[in-house]
Order: sequence, then C-alpha cells, then structure tokens
Amino acid sequence: MSKPKSVWEEFFADRRSGGHRSSAEEFISREAKEKLFHLDGGKTLLDFGCGAGELLVYYALEYERLVGADFSASMLDEADNKIKARKCENITLILADDKTVWEKLDSSFDRITAAGVVQYLTDEQVDNFISHASGYLNKGGKIVLFDLLNPRLYPLWKIGLFSRDFGFKKVVHKIGFEVHSVVSASLKNRPKDILGYTHNPFTIESIANKHGFEMEYVQSMYYEYKYHAIIS
Ligand SMILES: C[S@@+](CC[C@H](N)C(=O)[O-])C[C@H]1O[C@@H](n2cnc3c(N)ncnc32)[C@H](O)[C@@H]1O
Repeated sequence: MSKPKSVWEEFFADRRSGGHRSSAEEFISREAKEKLFHLDGGKTLLDFGCGAGELLVYYALEYERLVGADFSASMLDEADNKIKARKCENITLILADDKTVWEKLDSSFDRITAAGVVQYLTDEQVDNFISHASGYLNKGGKIVLFDLLNPRLYPLWKIGLFSRDFGFKKVVHKIGFEVHSVVSASLKNRPKDILGYTHNPFTIESIANKHGFEMEYVQSMYYEYKYHAIIS
C-alpha cells in the first residue's frame, strides 16, 4: 500500500511551475544569476525541490554534474521538458522527498541547495535535512538554502507594506482578505497559507551550528520578505 500524501505533496501534485514573482525568462535568468553568485562555485550540485527546473537549467551552465530532486511528478515532468529542450545532459532527476532523497543518491556534492522549498518544511524537517545533507557534502562544500520566509518581514509584505500603492484603505482590505482566506482554508482543510511556514533565521542558524556549520544570513535580492541561509 502506498503511503498517504502529506498536505504539501498533495498541494504540489499537479503543479507545473515554481511560482516565481515573474515567469518571464528575463526575470528567471536574473534570479538564477543572483543564486549562482551565492552558490559560489563547486562542480557538483544537488537542487532539492527543483520543481519545474526553472533555476536548475541555468545552474547546469555552471556545474559539471547536477541532480534535481522533487516529490512532485508533474513538476519533474515539466523540468524534464526544459532539460530536453535545452539539451542539458549533465542533469539527473529523482522523484523523492526530504526523507527518501538520501537513499537514492549515489554520490556526494560540492553544493546542496534548495530554492523556495524550506518554507514547506517544519523546523524538525530542516534539522533532519541539514543532518543528512552534511553526510552528502564534499569537503569544503556548502548547503545554500534560498528564499526562506522571514517571520518579521512576511506579515508586512502580506498587508502590502512593500507595495507601490501602500495606504490605510489597502491595508484594511488586505487584512480582511487574509482573515477570509485563513478561515475558508481551515473550513476546506487546506493549508492556511499556500506559501507555507516562516522560519526564524536564528533557529536555522542554531540548527546549522548544532551540525557543526556556520550560517550566513543574506537578504533575498528579488523577494523583500525572504532571506537566504548560506551554511558552510
Ligand atoms: C516553490 S517551488 C520551487 C521550485 C524550484 N526550486 C524553483 O525555485 O523554481 C517548491 C518545490 O519544492 C517541492 N517540495 C516541497 N516540499 C518538498 C519535500 N518535502 N520533498 C521534495 N520536494 C518538495 C515542491 O514540489 C515544489 O516543486
């Protein structure tokens, strides 16, 4: 008997895009450049939660060997189309979640990364992820977690503080909309926030320290309410 899908596995089961701020290729290529800057070299890379491969195909231009892993078959199908269209022969895709991915790997990596994924993991899952990842990291390697939701900035973004037309009426409207969404999601037994969970940077740092790493906090360039955790 197959195991029941988690709430997020269910959520991503038929999705085909990573939900970037813009799906325009010009935007994604700039986002990939920012990420490649923080990844800062290495020859081999694991992109955990690679989704539709939007960033992965850009990473493929800079790495010798890459593995993309995701628990959504539809996302991986989309990633496979992109990989074939761009003839990226250095990428392997794996259908796996944060628990099963490790047993499906046959080598270690210089970089283990995840973009827009940690928000779908609990603190406990992040702890286990870093613990397992450390066993698959080459000497001098890095775990680079991109775009975690900052618990201080995310609520401000949600009420429109960073929007161009920020104003009192808009804030009241946004708060009303948020309350309505949360109540209706609870009634339908759906996730209260489709963007997942926020993570306190100090909690991520102490998890990193517990596993013998240091963490650098970096503000995300294209998402005002997100940050990157560079763990080395
Ligand atoms: C917001 S999308 C980002 C996709 C990609 N990293 C990007 O930036 O374009 C999040 C992805 O993480 C995957 N994901 C979330 N939780 C996961 C888990 N526990 N195991 C494997 N994949 C997961 C989802 O299926 C989805 O493809």
